[in-house]
Amino acid sequence: MLGMGEVLVGSEEIREKVREMGERITEDYAGERLLLVGILRGAVVVLSDLMRCVELPCDIDFMDISSYGSGTSSSGVVRILKDLEEDVAGRHVLIVEDIIDTGLTLSYLKRSLLARKPASLEICTLLTKPSRRQVDLEIKYVGFEVPDVFVVGYGIDYAGSYRNLPEIRALEPEAARA
Ligand code: XMP
Ligand code: MG
Repeated sequence: MLGMGEVLVGSEEIREKVREMGERITEDYAGERLLLVGILRGAVVVLSDLMRCVELPCDIDFMDISSYGSGTSSSGVVRILKDLEEDVAGRHVLIVEDIIDTGLTLSYLKRSLLARKPASLEICTLLTKPSRRQVDLEIKYVGFEVPDVFVVGYGIDYAGSYRNLPEIRALEPEAARA
């Protein structure tokens, strides 16, 4: 496919990992009702696959956030474009994210949600780029570590494209410039 780099994580590997994460979540929250919070728009794909691997009563909700700052780097100051519909007070909340890079966005979001007094608040992400981390962020469920390259697919976009790829690919530098 034009502009696409190598496959970093194949679709079967993703399916298996999401199933594993779902099993762990099912065990860890046994007896509870869970609120899965997807961060729009990238996390829609992982959330929809993950929720079908969680054998617990659960609700889903979404937040849309944008970080202030230029280009591809995160400033850590987050603006909430769409807030949750659900009241999280007293709920077991699991944030579901596509990729965590510097960690600034989620660290801000975590602080802001903790102020609403959930019973618990944890993070699940399909991908993480540990080499880019700028803050100490506890992530309970991690799918895969990826190197510091721009990745697309399985919900993750470049300028709105490639979210529908079933696998995770590196974006070739030429495609990123196009
Ligand atoms: P933080 O605050 O952890 O930001 O630096 C995480 C957000 O940055 C975006 N991001 C990416 N988006 N390919 C993308 O399409 C990437 O390789 C990538 N790395 C980070 C993403 O929106 C994530 O929510
Ligand atoms: Mg995102």
